[in-house]
Amino acid sequence: VHHILTAEQFTPDELEALFLSADKFLESDQTITARREVMQRHRGRVVITTFYEPSTRTRISFEVAALKLGFQVAGTENAAEFSSAAKGETIEDTARVLGYGDVLIFRTSDDGEAMRAAAVSEVPIINGGDGKGEHPTQAALDMYTIFREFGRLDNLNVAIMGDLKYGRTARSLAQLLAKYPGNHISFVSTPELQIGDDIKAILDESGTTFEETSEMYDALREADVVYQTRLQLERHKDKKISVGQSHFILDASALDVMKKDAIIMHPLPRNEELPISTDADPRARYFSQARNGLYVRMAMLDKIMKTRP
Ligand code: CP
Repeated sequence: VHHILTAEQFTPDELEALFLSADKFLESDQTITARREVMQRHRGRVVITTFYEPSTRTRISFEVAALKLGFQVAGTENAAEFSSAAKGETIEDTARVLGYGDVLIFRTSDDGEAMRAAAVSEVPIINGGDGKGEHPTQAALDMYTIFREFGRLDNLNVAIMGDLKYGRTARSLAQLLAKYPGNHISFVSTPELQIGDDIKAILDESGTTFEETSEMYDALREADVVYQTRLQLERHKDKKISVGQSHFILDASALDVMKKDAIIMHPLPRNEELPISTDADPRARYFSQARNGLYVRMAMLDKIMKTRP
Protein backbone atom coordinates (compact mmCIF):
# COMPACT_ATOMS: atom_id res chain seq x y z
CA VAL A 1 0.00 0.00 0.00
CA HIS A 2 1.36 3.43 -0.95
CA HIS A 3 1.04 5.95 1.88
CA ILE A 4 2.14 9.59 2.14
CA LEU A 5 3.45 9.98 5.67
CA THR A 6 6.68 11.96 5.70
CA ALA A 7 8.55 14.42 3.51
CA GLU A 8 11.56 12.15 3.78
CA GLN A 9 9.89 9.48 1.64
CA PHE A 10 9.82 11.60 -1.55
CA THR A 11 12.66 11.26 -4.04
CA PRO A 12 13.54 14.13 -6.42
CA ASP A 13 12.31 11.95 -9.31
CA GLU A 14 8.95 11.42 -7.60
CA LEU A 15 8.62 15.12 -6.89
CA GLU A 16 9.40 15.95 -10.50
CA ALA A 17 6.72 13.54 -11.72
CA LEU A 18 4.27 14.93 -9.18
CA PHE A 19 4.94 18.49 -10.35
CA LEU A 20 4.45 17.56 -14.01
CA SER A 21 1.15 15.97 -13.08
CA ALA A 22 0.17 19.04 -11.02
CA ASP A 23 0.97 21.24 -14.05
CA LYS A 24 -1.41 19.13 -16.13
CA PHE A 25 -4.20 19.38 -13.59
CA LEU A 26 -3.68 23.13 -13.35
CA GLU A 27 -4.01 23.37 -17.11
CA SER A 28 -7.04 21.09 -17.36
CA ASP A 29 -8.77 23.11 -14.65
CA GLN A 30 -8.97 26.08 -17.00
CA THR A 31 -11.81 24.78 -19.23
CA ILE A 32 -15.08 23.09 -18.34
CA THR A 33 -14.60 20.47 -21.08
CA ALA A 34 -11.26 19.40 -19.65
CA ARG A 35 -12.63 19.50 -16.09
CA ARG A 36 -15.43 17.11 -17.06
CA GLU A 37 -12.92 14.75 -18.62
CA VAL A 38 -10.71 14.77 -15.51
CA MET A 39 -13.79 14.04 -13.39
CA GLN A 40 -14.11 10.65 -15.07
CA ARG A 41 -10.75 9.46 -13.74
CA HIS A 42 -11.80 8.24 -10.32
CA ARG A 43 -15.56 7.83 -10.49
CA GLY A 44 -16.67 5.04 -8.19
CA ARG A 45 -13.94 5.74 -5.64
CA VAL A 46 -14.23 7.40 -2.24
CA VAL A 47 -11.86 9.65 -0.28
CA ILE A 48 -12.41 9.89 3.48
CA THR A 49 -11.09 12.94 5.35
CA THR A 50 -10.86 12.69 9.13
CA PHE A 51 -9.50 15.87 10.70
CA TYR A 52 -9.03 15.94 14.47
CA GLU A 53 -7.65 19.50 14.32
CA PRO A 54 -8.91 22.61 12.51
CA SER A 55 -7.97 23.12 8.87
CA THR A 56 -9.02 25.34 6.00
CA ARG A 57 -6.50 24.62 3.24
CA THR A 58 -5.50 21.02 3.72
CA ARG A 59 -8.94 19.52 4.22
CA ILE A 60 -10.83 21.61 1.72
CA SER A 61 -8.16 21.50 -0.99
CA PHE A 62 -7.97 17.72 -0.62
CA GLU A 63 -11.75 17.44 -0.77
CA VAL A 64 -11.97 19.73 -3.81
CA ALA A 65 -9.06 17.87 -5.42
CA ALA A 66 -10.93 14.61 -4.85
CA LEU A 67 -14.21 15.99 -6.25
CA LYS A 68 -12.44 17.37 -9.31
CA LEU A 69 -10.99 13.90 -9.93
CA GLY A 70 -14.42 12.28 -9.69
CA PHE A 71 -14.09 10.77 -6.22
CA GLN A 72 -16.92 11.02 -3.77
CA VAL A 73 -15.94 12.42 -0.39
CA ALA A 74 -17.01 11.48 3.12
CA GLY A 75 -15.64 12.32 6.55
CA THR A 76 -15.67 14.77 9.41
CA GLU A 77 -13.86 18.03 9.99
CA ASN A 78 -14.08 18.00 13.78
CA ALA A 79 -13.18 14.40 14.42
CA ALA A 80 -11.96 15.01 17.96
CA GLU A 81 -15.53 15.85 18.90
CA PHE A 82 -17.70 14.29 16.17
CA SER A 83 -15.96 10.95 15.61
CA SER A 84 -15.81 8.08 18.08
CA ALA A 85 -12.35 9.28 19.11
CA ALA A 86 -14.43 11.30 21.60
CA LYS A 87 -15.42 7.92 23.08
CA GLY A 88 -11.85 6.70 23.19
CA GLU A 89 -11.50 4.93 19.85
CA THR A 90 -7.88 4.61 18.71
CA ILE A 91 -6.50 5.79 15.39
CA GLU A 92 -5.75 2.17 14.51
CA ASP A 93 -9.36 1.05 14.97
CA THR A 94 -10.56 4.12 13.11
CA ALA A 95 -8.29 3.38 10.14
CA ARG A 96 -9.33 -0.28 10.05
CA VAL A 97 -13.02 0.56 10.07
CA LEU A 98 -12.69 3.30 7.44
CA GLY A 99 -11.03 0.87 5.05
CA TYR A 100 -14.15 0.98 2.89
CA GLY A 101 -12.74 4.24 1.56
CA ASP A 102 -10.09 4.14 -1.17
CA VAL A 103 -7.86 6.77 0.50
CA LEU A 104 -7.93 8.01 4.09
CA ILE A 105 -6.62 11.48 4.90
CA PHE A 106 -5.93 12.22 8.55
CA ARG A 107 -4.98 15.34 10.48
CA THR A 108 -4.10 14.44 14.03
CA SER A 109 -3.12 16.24 17.22
CA ASP A 110 -0.24 13.95 18.10
CA ASP A 111 2.96 13.21 16.22
CA GLY A 112 3.11 9.84 14.50
CA GLU A 113 -0.62 9.09 14.44
CA ALA A 114 -0.80 8.89 10.63
CA MET A 115 2.05 6.37 10.77
CA ARG A 116 0.15 4.33 13.35
CA ALA A 117 -2.90 4.35 11.07
CA ALA A 118 -0.76 3.30 8.10
CA ALA A 119 0.72 0.39 10.04
CA VAL A 120 -2.69 -1.31 10.16
CA SER A 121 -4.42 0.08 7.08
CA GLU A 122 -5.15 -1.86 3.90
CA VAL A 123 -5.81 1.36 1.99
CA PRO A 124 -3.51 4.37 1.44
CA ILE A 125 -3.17 6.87 4.27
CA ILE A 126 -2.21 10.51 3.69
CA ASN A 127 -0.80 12.51 6.57
CA GLY A 128 -2.53 15.91 6.50
CA GLY A 129 -0.41 17.11 9.43
CA ASP A 130 0.38 15.20 12.61
CA GLY A 131 0.91 17.27 15.74
CA LYS A 132 4.30 18.96 15.64
CA GLY A 133 5.65 16.16 13.47
CA GLU A 134 5.24 16.50 9.72
CA HIS A 135 3.13 18.04 6.99
CA PRO A 136 4.45 16.31 3.87
CA THR A 137 1.77 17.41 1.41
CA GLN A 138 2.34 21.04 2.44
CA ALA A 139 6.09 20.64 1.87
CA ALA A 140 5.46 19.18 -1.59
CA LEU A 141 3.26 22.11 -2.57
CA ASP A 142 5.85 24.50 -1.11
CA MET A 143 8.52 22.93 -3.33
CA TYR A 144 6.18 23.09 -6.32
CA THR A 145 5.72 26.81 -5.67
CA ILE A 146 9.48 27.35 -5.44
CA PHE A 147 10.02 25.32 -8.62
CA ARG A 148 7.46 27.33 -10.54
CA GLU A 149 9.19 30.54 -9.48
CA PHE A 150 12.87 29.64 -9.90
CA GLY A 151 12.77 26.70 -12.32
CA ARG A 152 15.03 24.79 -9.94
CA LEU A 153 15.11 23.39 -6.42
CA ASP A 154 18.87 23.47 -5.83
CA ASN A 155 21.38 26.19 -4.94
CA LEU A 156 18.78 28.30 -3.17
CA ASN A 157 19.17 30.35 -0.02
CA VAL A 158 16.03 29.81 2.08
CA ALA A 159 15.18 31.65 5.29
CA ILE A 160 12.69 29.56 7.29
CA MET A 161 11.31 31.76 10.03
CA GLY A 162 9.13 31.67 13.09
CA ASP A 163 8.06 28.79 15.30
CA LEU A 164 10.33 26.02 14.08
CA LYS A 165 9.98 23.89 17.19
CA TYR A 166 6.23 23.35 16.88
CA GLY A 167 5.77 24.20 13.19
CA ARG A 168 5.53 20.97 11.22
CA THR A 169 5.57 22.71 7.82
CA ALA A 170 9.08 24.03 8.50
CA ARG A 171 10.25 20.57 9.54
CA SER A 172 8.92 18.93 6.38
CA LEU A 173 10.15 21.68 4.04
CA ALA A 174 13.70 21.50 5.42
CA GLN A 175 13.74 17.76 4.69
CA LEU A 176 12.75 18.30 1.06
CA LEU A 177 15.29 21.11 0.57
CA ALA A 178 17.94 18.69 1.85
CA LYS A 179 17.30 16.41 -1.12
CA TYR A 180 18.78 18.94 -3.57
CA PRO A 181 22.43 20.06 -3.74
CA GLY A 182 23.67 23.48 -2.79
CA ASN A 183 20.73 24.69 -0.76
CA HIS A 184 21.44 26.79 2.33
CA ILE A 185 18.87 27.25 5.08
CA SER A 186 18.79 30.03 7.66
CA PHE A 187 16.52 29.02 10.51
CA VAL A 188 15.38 32.33 11.98
CA SER A 189 13.84 31.99 15.41
CA THR A 190 14.33 32.56 19.09
CA PRO A 191 16.64 30.00 20.72
CA GLU A 192 13.69 28.29 22.47
CA LEU A 193 11.71 27.84 19.24
CA GLN A 194 14.52 26.55 17.01
CA ILE A 195 14.24 23.52 14.74
CA GLY A 196 14.58 20.02 16.23
CA ASP A 197 17.83 18.08 16.42
CA ASP A 198 16.30 15.32 14.26
CA ILE A 199 15.96 17.74 11.34
CA LYS A 200 19.46 19.12 11.86
CA ALA A 201 20.82 15.57 11.74
CA ILE A 202 19.08 15.00 8.38
CA LEU A 203 20.60 18.23 7.03
CA ASP A 204 24.05 17.26 8.26
CA GLU A 205 23.76 13.84 6.68
CA SER A 206 22.77 15.31 3.33
CA GLY A 207 25.48 17.98 3.42
CA THR A 208 22.92 20.80 3.43
CA THR A 209 24.42 23.86 5.09
CA PHE A 210 22.34 25.73 7.63
CA GLU A 211 22.55 28.24 10.42
CA GLU A 212 20.35 29.00 13.39
CA THR A 213 19.99 32.69 14.04
CA SER A 214 17.89 35.34 15.69
CA GLU A 215 19.21 37.99 13.28
CA MET A 216 16.25 38.24 10.91
CA TYR A 217 17.64 41.11 8.85
CA ASP A 218 20.91 39.31 8.06
CA ALA A 219 19.00 36.24 6.87
CA LEU A 220 16.55 38.30 4.81
CA ARG A 221 19.34 40.09 2.92
CA GLU A 222 20.64 36.77 1.57
CA ALA A 223 17.41 34.83 1.02
CA ASP A 224 15.92 33.80 -2.33
CA VAL A 225 12.93 32.34 -0.49
CA VAL A 226 11.57 33.78 2.75
CA TYR A 227 9.31 31.18 4.37
CA GLN A 228 7.48 32.75 7.30
CA THR A 229 5.43 30.72 9.80
CA ARG A 230 3.10 31.60 12.64
CA LEU A 231 3.56 30.86 16.32
CA GLN A 232 1.80 27.57 17.02
CA LEU A 233 0.28 28.89 20.23
CA GLU A 234 -2.09 25.92 20.48
CA ARG A 235 1.00 23.77 21.11
CA HIS A 236 2.78 26.11 23.54
CA LYS A 237 1.73 24.27 26.67
CA ASP A 238 4.48 25.64 28.86
CA LYS A 239 5.31 29.28 28.10
CA LYS A 240 3.45 31.32 25.53
CA ILE A 241 5.66 33.71 23.59
CA SER A 242 4.18 36.60 21.63
CA VAL A 243 5.11 37.60 18.09
CA GLY A 244 6.20 40.95 19.51
CA GLN A 245 8.68 39.12 21.74
CA SER A 246 9.89 37.01 18.83
CA HIS A 247 10.72 40.13 16.72
CA PHE A 248 10.13 38.25 13.49
CA ILE A 249 7.54 40.30 11.67
CA LEU A 250 7.68 40.71 7.88
CA ASP A 251 6.81 44.40 7.93
CA ALA A 252 7.96 47.25 5.67
CA SER A 253 11.41 47.46 7.24
CA ALA A 254 11.93 43.73 6.75
CA LEU A 255 10.72 43.89 3.14
CA ASP A 256 13.14 46.75 2.57
CA VAL A 257 16.26 44.63 3.04
CA MET A 258 15.08 41.64 0.98
CA LYS A 259 16.37 40.90 -2.52
CA LYS A 260 14.23 42.33 -5.28
CA ASP A 261 13.74 38.89 -6.88
CA ALA A 262 13.12 36.97 -3.64
CA ILE A 263 9.72 35.46 -2.90
CA ILE A 264 7.71 35.47 0.32
CA MET A 265 5.93 32.28 1.31
CA HIS A 266 3.80 31.26 4.27
CA PRO A 267 1.82 28.03 4.72
CA LEU A 268 -1.03 30.08 6.25
CA PRO A 269 -3.04 30.72 8.34
CA ARG A 270 -1.17 33.87 9.33
CA ASN A 271 -1.20 36.12 12.33
CA GLU A 272 0.77 39.29 13.08
CA GLU A 273 4.04 37.82 11.75
CA LEU A 274 2.82 38.53 8.19
CA PRO A 275 1.03 41.89 8.12
CA ILE A 276 -1.77 42.37 5.61
CA SER A 277 0.17 45.36 4.21
CA THR A 278 2.75 42.85 2.90
CA ASP A 279 0.12 41.42 0.51
CA ALA A 280 0.74 44.36 -1.83
CA ASP A 281 4.43 43.51 -2.14
CA PRO A 282 5.16 42.02 -5.59
CA ARG A 283 7.23 39.27 -3.94
CA ALA A 284 4.28 37.88 -1.94
CA ARG A 285 3.42 34.36 -3.12
CA TYR A 286 1.43 32.85 -0.24
CA PHE A 287 -1.95 32.91 -1.94
CA SER A 288 -0.67 31.34 -5.16
CA GLN A 289 1.19 28.88 -2.92
CA ALA A 290 -2.11 27.90 -1.30
CA ARG A 291 -3.76 27.55 -4.72
CA ASN A 292 -0.91 25.34 -5.90
CA GLY A 293 -1.89 22.98 -3.09
CA LEU A 294 -5.04 22.04 -4.96
CA TYR A 295 -3.13 20.81 -8.00
CA VAL A 296 -0.36 19.09 -6.05
CA ARG A 297 -3.02 17.27 -4.03
CA MET A 298 -4.86 16.27 -7.20
CA ALA A 299 -1.57 14.84 -8.47
CA MET A 300 -1.06 12.97 -5.19
CA LEU A 301 -4.52 11.42 -5.16
CA ASP A 302 -4.19 10.46 -8.81
CA LYS A 303 -0.80 8.85 -8.23
CA ILE A 304 -1.80 7.01 -5.08
CA MET A 305 -4.67 5.36 -6.98
CA LYS A 306 -2.20 3.71 -9.34
CA THR A 307 -1.53 1.21 -6.54
CA ARG A 308 -5.23 0.47 -6.07
CA PRO A 309 -7.69 -1.84 -7.87
N1 CP B 1 -1.25 25.24 5.69
C1 CP B 1 -2.20 24.49 6.30
O1 CP B 1 -1.98 23.32 6.65
O2 CP B 1 -3.38 25.14 6.49
P1 CP B 1 -4.66 24.53 7.23
O3 CP B 1 -4.27 24.31 8.67
O4 CP B 1 -5.73 25.55 7.05
O5 CP B 1 -4.99 23.21 6.57
